[in-house]
Amino acid sequence: MISKFNAEEITVNGEKFEILIDESTIQKRVAELGEQISKDYEGKVPIFIGVLNGSVIFFADLIRNISINCEVDFLKLSSYGDAKISSGNVRLIKELNADIKDRDVIIVEDIVDTGLSIVYMKSLLKSQNPNSVKVVTLLHKSEATKYDVKLDYVGFQIPNKFVIGYGLDHTQKYRNLRSIYALKST
Ligand code: IMP
Ligand code: MG
Repeated sequence: MISKFNAEEITVNGEKFEILIDESTIQKRVAELGEQISKDYEGKVPIFIGVLNGSVIFFADLIRNISINCEVDFLKLSSYGDAKISSGNVRLIKELNADIKDRDVIIVEDIVDTGLSIVYMKSLLKSQNPNSVKVVTLLHKSEATKYDVKLDYVGFQIPNKFVIGYGLDHTQKYRNLRSIYALKST
């Protein structure tokens, strides 16, 4: 059991995590992102492509802040396994169902770390001839980003620390925490 949804500090397998971004700060920023995207896509019907599993919580909150018509679809990649650092390779586990030819596509990511996943997905989606492909990510670890990626909308720049909560996992758990927690440096 997780002792408190919004405890300041939690212990996971003997390691301490502290709140990095609290629930209300996340909600405020997600609303701003939704408003900005709605303005930028006025007159269009974009397709939001959620990257499973990490982006589901952000995805659900983001699209409820979109005030124009939109569609949704999902794809799934595997890159991390159960480790805390990127494995350096990406696999597609679930493909898109939607036909994105001539459509305006917005990839929704939880976090951009090395940037490999985004580079891979952008080239994958572009090969299906959409009208445009943009990226929204809740978090960006800019110090860790090695690939040349254009991020169109970024919720928060964060330090190069392992984070959990609000969709982000530690060995598949802790996605249900309402705030984002970072591993404390020892
Ligand atoms: P990238 O391909 O190195 O940019 O890694 C992106 C993916 O790695 C994200 O979509 C997450 O699923 C995962 N990831 C990166 N950093 C973290 C983290 O700090 N906690 C949990 N998952 C992470
Ligand atoms: Mg992810």
